[in-house]
Amino acid sequence: MRIFLDTANTSEIRQAARLGVISGITTNPSLIAKEKREDMKSVIEEIASIIDGPISAEVLSLEPKAMIQEAREVSSWSANVVVKIPMSEGGLEAISVLSREGIKTNLTLCFSLNQALLGTIAGATYVSPFVGRLDDISHDGMQLVSDIVKVFDHYKMPTQVLAASIRHPLHVVIAAKAGADIATIPYNVLKQMIKHPLTDIGITRFTEDWQSIQKL
Ligand code: E4P
Repeated sequence: MRIFLDTANTSEIRQAARLGVISGITTNPSLIAKEKREDMKSVIEEIASIIDGPISAEVLSLEPKAMIQEAREVSSWSANVVVKIPMSEGGLEAISVLSREGIKTNLTLCFSLNQALLGTIAGATYVSPFVGRLDDISHDGMQLVSDIVKVFDHYKMPTQVLAASIRHPLHVVIAAKAGADIATIPYNVLKQMIKHPLTDIGITRFTEDWQSIQKL
């Protein structure tokens, strides 16, 4: 399973990139607004200068024609851009046109197996089940990831399953066990994944034992 960072904060992206574990980035309008960056293009171009991997950037248009136009523009910002298209009738129409043009798409705001199925049939490169937001309304978000993986595998669909709306390290573990192709995670979850109390205790003990022998 690959790990993407789910952020528009370029300092976090620079720091995470140094660790050599991040293969791509997902953004959305809320994440870009959080960074108070009004120009989405400049954010995406800056991210593309840091990370050599897929970068999801979302369209804001809602009508299919406008979505397709906007997606063509967004995909021209960098060779690595993947256009995020929200699930809707217009979104499916846009994905089917864009996939025939060779533009990579990420079906976002996916909350059901039926939505994922339609996305892959329309030609989406990625589908993004939103795990945390399903958990928030007492649905099992990871069960959806597992179901999508199973069905895509069965029918040998080429669309990649991108587990999104990840809230904590256990989500990452379950996504990996479920066979998700990718988990896109906030920076704080990446930091939590690194830490283990026994690792810290072990480092302290090794250091202290080594120092104790030096004093003899
Ligand atoms: C996915 O691509 C989205 O940007 C993201 O994972 C949404 O997460 P949230 O539900 O924590 O906002």
